[in-house]
Amino acid sequence: TTGPLRDRFGRIATDLRVSVTDRCNLRCTYCMPAEGLDWLPTDDVLTTAELIRVMTVAVRDLGIRTIRFTGGEPLLRRDLEDLIAAVSDLPDPPEIAMTTNGLGLRHRIEPLVAAGLDRINVSLDTVDRERFAAITRRDRLDDVVDGLAAARAAGVRSIKVNAVLAGHDDLDRLPDLLGFCLDHGYQLRIIEQMPLDAEHRWDRSSMVTADEILAALRAGYTLLPDPRPRGSAPAATWLVDGHYVDGAPARVGVIASVTRPFCGDCDRTRLTADGALRNCLFAESETDLRAVLRSGLQGDRLDAAIADRWRGNTWVKAAGHGVNGPEFHQPTRPMSAIGG
Ligand code: GTP
Ligand code: 5AD
Ligand code: SF4
Repeated sequence: TTGPLRDRFGRIATDLRVSVTDRCNLRCTYCMPAEGLDWLPTDDVLTTAELIRVMTVAVRDLGIRTIRFTGGEPLLRRDLEDLIAAVSDLPDPPEIAMTTNGLGLRHRIEPLVAAGLDRINVSLDTVDRERFAAITRRDRLDDVVDGLAAARAAGVRSIKVNAVLAGHDDLDRLPDLLGFCLDHGYQLRIIEQMPLDAEHRWDRSSMVTADEILAALRAGYTLLPDPRPRGSAPAATWLVDGHYVDGAPARVGVIASVTRPFCGDCDRTRLTADGALRNCLFAESETDLRAVLRSGLQGDRLDAAIADRWRGNTWVKAAGHGVNGPEFHQPTRPMSAIGG
């Protein structure tokens, strides 16, 4: 039951994204309604010990080399430092990353880095204060900007900014956002919106496409081909001519999940906060690891059962997400309950 996780198409799943809560303290209009969602009952959410058990098997026995903590909003979990410390104390530890909305990050970044956090991606769709409040339904732009600055001050070696453009009007604000990121040394990536919102409001015609994003960027900046290989990364990147971060050429990325899918190189698996393993954002079925964790099995037998179930889940991963096909229907779980 040890060795790499290989699927039917030869892809090897080396990247695990762990959603530690489905709750969030923002209410982005493209993600969830103003009143929030029916959050998972506390008893259904994996405990600190259960999460550590799964991540230990993943790294020790299954070839996982990157662990990314996501949510909901991962900073809402007070044991996040303990989870990171446990992973970074493993023999031959993986790279440890986090995707966060940045609220309260300035108070947490130092202990998180001390625990072993290597890199962070912060969601920030605009640097226009009113627009930020309209999109997130909270007037908290300064908090995010301060969190980013604190991460830079703490010496985090890779800081990325993730932006979803909620509408075509946001293209006009894109140069300001890129300017902000270049000034501070953050790598901006602009994301095509996917049909994963809780209210099922996504529609193709209001989605801002990669081509539109690139045209808007090129209106203000010269983009050069990036010589660095992309590998399994969701983002295609360009060098921004004339701009540097710590002496290296500055980059900007576009994550074109819908118009230029990258499923053929996918190395990602997701664990939801309630312990379901998903081999794709759009997977139609999941594997209930929580049931295994709470089955009464102990020690090596528990670890072997986790690994066996996981292999079964990997094996049935689909070739791609099918968003552009005629049969597509949105998964029941929204983005906030899967982890981006
Ligand atoms: P890096 O290792 O820093 O490149 O991380 P990442 O881009 O994989 O992670 P992040 O959490 O920042 O993801 C940014 C966005 O990419 C997410 O919000 C999704 O929109 C998209 N994304 C990430 N992983 C996948 C994936 O497996 N499939 C699809 N379709 N989109 C993904
Ligand atoms: N499509 C693409 N990205 C999304 N995000 C939230 N909802 C969607 C969606 N429907 C992004 C957030 C954040 C990351 C975790 O996921 O903006 O950057
Ligand atoms: Fe991987 Fe699914 Fe995302 Fe495609 S949509 S890149 S298969 S997680």
